[in-house]
Amino acid sequence: MASRAARDFPNLTVLSHPLIQHKLTILRDKQTSTRDFKQLVNEIAMLMAYEVTSQVAGKKLTLVPILRAGLGMVEGISQLIPSARVGHIGLYRNHDTLQPVDYYFKIPSGEADRAFFLLDPMLATGGSAVAAVSALVRAGAPVQRIRFLCLVCAPEGVKAMLDAHPKVPVYTASLDRELNSKGYILPGLGDAGDRLFGTR
Ligand code: PRP
Ligand code: URA
Repeated sequence: MASRAARDFPNLTVLSHPLIQHKLTILRDKQTSTRDFKQLVNEIAMLMAYEVTSQVAGKKLTLVPILRAGLGMVEGISQLIPSARVGHIGLYRNHDTLQPVDYYFKIPSGEADRAFFLLDPMLATGGSAVAAVSALVRAGAPVQRIRFLCLVCAPEGVKAMLDAHPKVPVYTASLDRELNSKGYILPGLGDAGDRLFGTR
């Protein structure tokens, strides 16, 4: 998949470190418990942030999880970078239209001088990620300092980000095959929010 990513998606970096890939394999297993799922999401997020921060010059960092599932990535990265501040963007997908519905936005002040890691385990149609980047930019975040970190992405979502926000790099542990008719990533992780928080 790395060659496909490079050819089709100049905005995409697949982080193929063996530890990340090993943990992702366990995450994909439907039998993995909520407790282990939560721990693994945090561990993968930490390893991804370790790699991404080695590629970018240091500005003060703000982590911005997209609620709910992005919350699962915050603790792991905060352990690595305790000085990082945290903003929140509340979005959910309408189940019928798959369009994002926004319900919350709060980021720390001083946005013009900060770098942003926008966090969401899943990049599916891309509607949520595109809307979240637009909201950050409207609030004053410099678009060239926004990076999107996800665990799994679909080609459709990466393309949507490339079309809407070509300057925003997307980092992922896996470029998966496709979306199903309900907008779920295949093979994917299932519903990441439900698996993280034990809802369903
Ligand atoms: C999931 C996921 C992303 C979004 C991805 O959230 O965490 O935010 O869907 O899909 P998209 O790329 O097609 O927009 P969901 O809407 O299920 O909300 P939740 O985290 O509150 O459960
Ligand atoms: N949201 C999820 O949680 N999983 C998907 O596969 C797509 C969107």
